[in-house]
Amino acid sequence: MKAKAKLSLALALFLGSLVLMQEVQVGVQTSEHPALGAYLTDGQGRSLYLYTQDSQNTPTCYDQCAQTWPPLLVKEKAVAGKGVAPNLLGVAKRRDGSLQVTYNGWPLYYFVRDQKPGDVLGQGVGGVWFLVSPKGEALKPSTDQQPAGAQTDALLAQLKAEGETLFTRVCASCHGAQGQGGVGPTLQNNTRLQDVSFLVEAVTKGLGYMPPVAANLTNREVAAVLTFVRTSFGNSYGLVDEEEVARLR
Ligand code: HEC
Repeated sequence: MKAKAKLSLALALFLGSLVLMQEVQVGVQTSEHPALGAYLTDGQGRSLYLYTQDSQNTPTCYDQCAQTWPPLLVKEKAVAGKGVAPNLLGVAKRRDGSLQVTYNGWPLYYFVRDQKPGDVLGQGVGGVWFLVSPKGEALKPSTDQQPAGAQTDALLAQLKAEGETLFTRVCASCHGAQGQGGVGPTLQNNTRLQDVSFLVEAVTKGLGYMPPVAANLTNREVAAVLTFVRTSFGNSYGLVDEEEVARLR
């Protein structure tokens, strides 16, 4: 009996230490994107990004920014997985004392819109967020090599991210944070979002009881917010670009 109790205590300690180890061990590895090539991910395959406004080992993305781009945090240090150079891995201290994993001096971040391994929606956002190459540089494929599809994907992701912020600021008060409706009609699964010229006119000139809410927004901002609503809330009508807005408004 005594021996058995000792054994289960030993087992409990052993399992406990395994759990602890898991918490401490944050892995960084590489994945392969069909158009972009090899890029850094965490141990689960989630994409990691660098922020070109950061300087060496100095994260500058906090508050609102860090909600969109959560830092990759670690207790001590990260473990180099497949394709990753261990000597390029490091940590930087954040304002709150937590440790953020760095690679070649770049603090590493996630993008909230990436849901699963292989998602790279943060690539190129704002022209300042980029996937990280195994050498620790921003992954910026020269545009002439990039297939047209990938360029459109990147632009769509970029407009959508910018549009989400604008939607929250300009539209959510009447149409609901999830587009579920309020003072204005629901935008969920709304077939009226198909018609780009209707949309541009509605938001820049007004529509019935809706004031011209986007009258003071730039063409880029109108394109972004319309891209966001057309590709969110169950709608999938694709992007609206700046030139189209300029033509229609
Ligand atoms: C002050 C409240 C308010 C704000 C802010 C607002 N809307 Fe509206 N919106 C309305 C109302 C009210 C209607 C219904 C207009 C009508 O038909 O009389 C409407 C209608 C629409 C429609 C047509 C939907 C349909 O089914 O008929 C679209 C699309 C739309 N809004 C998009 C937007 C977008 C995008 C924004 C932000 C850029 C926005 N709205 C901001 C109040 C608002």
